Amino acid sequence: MNNGLERIRLTSLHAKVMSAEQAVQLIQDGMVVGMSGFGGAGEAKTVPLALADYAQTHPLKITLATGASLGNKIDQKLGEAQALSRRYPYQADPVLRKMINNGEVMYVDQHLSSTADDMRHHNLPRPNIAIIAAIAITEDGQIIPTASVGNSANFAEFADQVIVEIDCTINPVLEGAHDIYVAPSRPHRGPIPLTQSHDRIGTIGIHINPEKIAAIVMNDIPDSSFKMDEADEETLAIAQHLIGFFEQEVALGRLPDNLGPLQSGVGSIANAVFAGFEHSNFKDLEMYSEVLQDCTFKLIDAGKMKFASGCSMTLSEQGNAHVMKNFDRYKDKIILRPQDVSNNPELIRRLGTISINTALEFDIYSNVNSTHVMGTRMMNGIGGSGDFTRHAHLAIFVSKSIAKNGAISSVVPMVSHVDHNEHDIDILVTEQGLADLRGLAPRERARKIIDHCAHPSYKEALNDYFERACVRGGQTPHILEEALSWHAQFEETGQMKAS
Ligand code: COA
Repeated sequence: MNNGLERIRLTSLHAKVMSAEQAVQLIQDGMVVGMSGFGGAGEAKTVPLALADYAQTHPLKITLATGASLGNKIDQKLGEAQALSRRYPYQADPVLRKMINNGEVMYVDQHLSSTADDMRHHNLPRPNIAIIAAIAITEDGQIIPTASVGNSANFAEFADQVIVEIDCTINPVLEGAHDIYVAPSRPHRGPIPLTQSHDRIGTIGIHINPEKIAAIVMNDIPDSSFKMDEADEETLAIAQHLIGFFEQEVALGRLPDNLGPLQSGVGSIANAVFAGFEHSNFKDLEMYSEVLQDCTFKLIDAGKMKFASGCSMTLSEQGNAHVMKNFDRYKDKIILRPQDVSNNPELIRRLGTISINTALEFDIYSNVNSTHVMGTRMMNGIGGSGDFTRHAHLAIFVSKSIAKNGAISSVVPMVSHVDHNEHDIDILVTEQGLADLRGLAPRERARKIIDHCAHPSYKEALNDYFERACVRGGQTPHILEEALSWHAQFEETGQMKAS
C-alpha cells in the first residue's frame, strides 16, 4: 500500500495530514463528538482508538453520537477508558451494555432517523467535532464515505471542526455508490424527492467547507467482519411461514409480484428469510432498508433482487471479500444513503415498505419489546425498528417462541417494556406459526397470537390468563396484579413457568 495521499485529491488538504495522536488533541473534555459508523461498518477507527488510549492517562469524558453500533470494539475501549458520559443513538457492545445498565453511561436510545433532525433543529446539541471515515476526498473537496453513510453527512455539516480518517483498507471502487442528500431545515422544507428505492437525489460525497477540516488521519485498520449465526430449525420455520404468507398475499392480489420494497433487521432470522427468497419463485425483489447484509448480495447474484437501498453494508469476512472484488457488478444495483433518508418515515410510508424486525418478546395483544430484558436491562436499542414499523405497509415482527431453553416465553401476558405498540403491528411470526392481525380487535388478536405463535408449553397458561382477564372485562382485558408476574417469577427463580 502507498501512503494514501493520492486519495486526498484536493491537494491543498495534504498539509492537514497528521497522526491520530496529534488529532486527538483537538478533542476536549465535555465535547459532543459525532462519529461515522453504522451496524459495525464504516466507522472511524484510528482516531477513536487513539482517544481511548489517551483517555487512560488523561481523563476526559465526551458525549458520543454515531450512526449506530460501532465495530473494532470502539465502544468497549472508550467505555473501559471511562471516556463516555453519554451515548446515542444505538450501541450493541456487551461491555458498554453493562456500563449502561449500571448507570455509568447515560444512554439515549433513539429512533435512528431522528438524531440528525434533532441536531438540525436544536433538540440535541450539535457536535463540537466530527470524525468522519472516508475512502477519498475529491478534487472539489467532497468527502466520500466508506461502507456506511449513517449520520456522517449531517455530523460533518453541524460540527465546528471535522477530522477525516482516510480508510486505505476500503477499495476505492466504492466511490459512486453513495447518494448524499441533506435535508433543509424546517419550516423551509418540501417533500424529499424520492419516489422509488433506486432514485438518486443527492451527490456522491459530503460537501462541507474544506476549511472546517482540522485534521486528516490515515487509517489501515479494516472494518470488523460480521459473524452471522447459521440458520437453525426455528429460524428456517419462521422463514417458511413468512414466504408462504407472502406467496398467498400475491396470489390474492394484495401484494405486487415483487412484494414492494423490503426492510429487514440484521440477524439470523432475517438471513434465513432472505435465504428462503433465494429458493422461492419471487423475482425482481427490492430493498429499502438500513443494513445490506451478505444475503442481499446473494439475492442479487441469484438474479432475484434487482435493487437494494440502505445506509450501511454489514458483511461477513467472506461476504466483504466477494462484494469488494466484484463491486463493479453491484454498483448500479445498490445505493448507500444517510440514515435520515434510509429510515425516513415519509419515504417508508410513500414506498409501501414491508418491515421485518426481531422482537425479544411480544404480548397477547401484540405490543412488542425489542430492547429491555425483563423490562429493565438494555439489550441493544430500538435502532431503526420503530422508524420502519410505524410507517410500513406491513409491519412484521419475528421471534423464537421461547428463549433460554424454554425458561422464557417470548409470548407473555403483558410486555415488560413497550417499543412498538398494538396499533402498529400487522403480523407476528414464531417457529410455531404466523398470526395475521390485520383488522382484528385486541380480544381477537389474543386468541390468534396464543393459537398461532405461543410455544405449546406456555399455551395453557396464556389461555388461562386471557380467559380470567376476559371475566374482568375491558377492551384489552388484563389482570393488572398478575400481568407482569411471569417476568417477576423469572427474576426470582430463573423460570417463567410456575413449578
Ligand atoms: N427475554 C430475555 N432474553 C431473550 C428473550 C426474552 N424474551 N428473547 C431472546 N432473548 C435473548 C436470547 O436468549 C439471546 O441471548 P444470548 O445472547 O445470551 O444467546 C439474545 O436475547 C438474542 O436473541 P436471539 O434470538 O439470538 O436474536 P437476535 O440476535 O436476532 O436479537 C434482538 C434479537 C431483539 C436483541 C435484536 O434483534 C435487536 O437488538 N433488535 C432491536 C434493534 C432492531 O430491531 N434493529 C433492526 C432495525 S433495522
